[in-house]
Amino acid sequence: MKVISVLNEKGGCGKTTIATNLARGLQLAGESVLLIDSDVQGSARDWGAAQETVDTPVVVGMDRPTLHEDVSRVGEGNDLVVIDGAARAEKMQTSAIKASDLVLIPVQPSAYDIWSSETLVELVEARREVTGRPKAAFVVSRQIVGTNLAAEAQEALESFDLPVLEGRTSQRVIYAEAAAQGLSVVDLDSSSKAAGEVRQITEDTLEILNSQIAKTNGTTQ
Ligand SMILES: Nc1ncnc2c1ncn2[C@@H]1O[C@H](COP(=O)(O)OP(=O)(O)OP(=O)(O)O)[C@@H](O)[C@H]1O
Ligand SMILES: [Mg+2]
Repeated sequence: MKVISVLNEKGGCGKTTIATNLARGLQLAGESVLLIDSDVQGSARDWGAAQETVDTPVVVGMDRPTLHEDVSRVGEGNDLVVIDGAARAEKMQTSAIKASDLVLIPVQPSAYDIWSSETLVELVEARREVTGRPKAAFVVSRQIVGTNLAAEAQEALESFDLPVLEGRTSQRVIYAEAAAQGLSVVDLDSSSKAAGEVRQITEDTLEILNSQIAKTNGTTQ
């Protein structure tokens, strides 16, 4: 069993959207997946409860910072666990980092938003120095359709020594529609551009998770 957390201290950056779509995307790729909602707001739990006809991943709420102690027991029997992170919840975030093999950091494509993830990146790196895990990568979230990543956002991303997934989400109404129905964008319209985005994020996530190379400070391990 491997654990992927979707974390960022910043509210509204797309954690739950990416966590729910990724969990469902991984399931559609053939993995058995449990989704853990670590946010007291319970948005992922609401998503899980919004429909009963499609066999989307089971969602359990674990919003205490003892998550890392319980995750292997709770996730037992699944190939993958996806943790939806909480904003402004440092202890939860630290616990999720400890639980994780891979931390995905959704960032909206603005330099300020990217820089504000510095504390999180430092926490991940500190943990990795001690235990060799987790891996980490940025995921660009809510990019405006038809635009390229602004030069300053690109520079901000490059100022961190973390990979950036090729897959990203663009700002599209279908993400909000799928959320309201407890589905992924792939369920709603498998030929949509958003579905293509989620498939790419899923593929990139599996590739990083299964690669032997963890990029740390420009070196390989
Ligand atoms: N790519 C997107 N296109 C359109 N709407 C989006 C997209 N990503 C997120 N949203 C919408 O933006 C809002 C915030 O997104 P989301 O809930 O995923 O962020 P979050 O980081 O989980 O927030 P919080 O910190 O409050 O948990 C939601 O209403 C969501 O539907
Ligand atoms: Mg959320």
